[in-house]
Amino acid sequence: MPLVSIKNELLRARQGGYAIPLFDTYDMNSTEGMFAAIEERRAPVIAAIYSTWMDFPWIPAYAAYIRARAEKSPVPVTLYLDHGADFEQCMRAISLGFTDVMYDGSKLPVEENMKNTKEIVRAAHAMGISVEAELGHVGQGSEYQDFAAQRKGFTDPELAARFVEETGVDFLAVAIGTAHGVYRGKPQLDLDLLAQIRAAVDVPLVLHGGSGLSEEQFRAAIKGGISKVNVATDLYRTTGRRLVETAQKEDGINYQGLMKAAMDSFQERCGYYLDLFGTTGKAPCQEF
Ligand code: 13P
Repeated sequence: MPLVSIKNELLRARQGGYAIPLFDTYDMNSTEGMFAAIEERRAPVIAAIYSTWMDFPWIPAYAAYIRARAEKSPVPVTLYLDHGADFEQCMRAISLGFTDVMYDGSKLPVEENMKNTKEIVRAAHAMGISVEAELGHVGQGSEYQDFAAQRKGFTDPELAARFVEETGVDFLAVAIGTAHGVYRGKPQLDLDLLAQIRAAVDVPLVLHGGSGLSEEQFRAAIKGGISKVNVATDLYRTTGRRLVETAQKEDGINYQGLMKAAMDSFQERCGYYLDLFGTTGKAPCQEF
């Protein structure tokens, strides 16, 4: 089916108490592995392109490939800009056929984040595109011990209510103790804070920095109101390890075999998250 905005699926997920993963796919092998996982599980998914990759010359062709590939798929697929840098980048993604965008102004002063988000929401909504923004700031796992214990950058629930109201944003990324990349130390989620944010705003909530959380933490976060979970680092590390193992096998050093190993690894790992988040079986399917 044609690419779809994830908005309705996220509203359904919020009602149904499950979450939809966003996977930052990178190339054809990772994308094909992800497609194999969602098709065998009948699950909706968000295929995302990370902000810093948007300048690669092959991105327009890659976006067109995901669009064409989604059309052959019986499950809904969304093409999403992850951590959009500014208005211009969000608009460029939309012009390339992305169905939803994230604008990340979380490092800016709140009022500036709010002003920029509002402008992007106004322009994107006029084209039928949904927008995610981040309030508070989800930091880097390598600096986890420097900010998490002091709850630096954590989302303020009252501010979240004002932010959503004033910007009209569709989904809100929250900082409740996760971080991007590999955690230095053990991640701790502030589930009480999540409950307060959930009570203060009614748009679907997003958890960034999924890699490295325990199954129990994922379940608790989803039960506490998270409807979208972003995962990237774990997919790359798992796949990197698989490639090393494959290369060490007899006759393992063979380009096609390594590409197949990458695809298989993505399929398995994406499948693992779809099962864990309760996404499996949730796609409204079209029969072909
Ligand atoms: P991880 O790479 O830590 O899984 O985070 C992914 C993410 O939040 C992308 O937006």
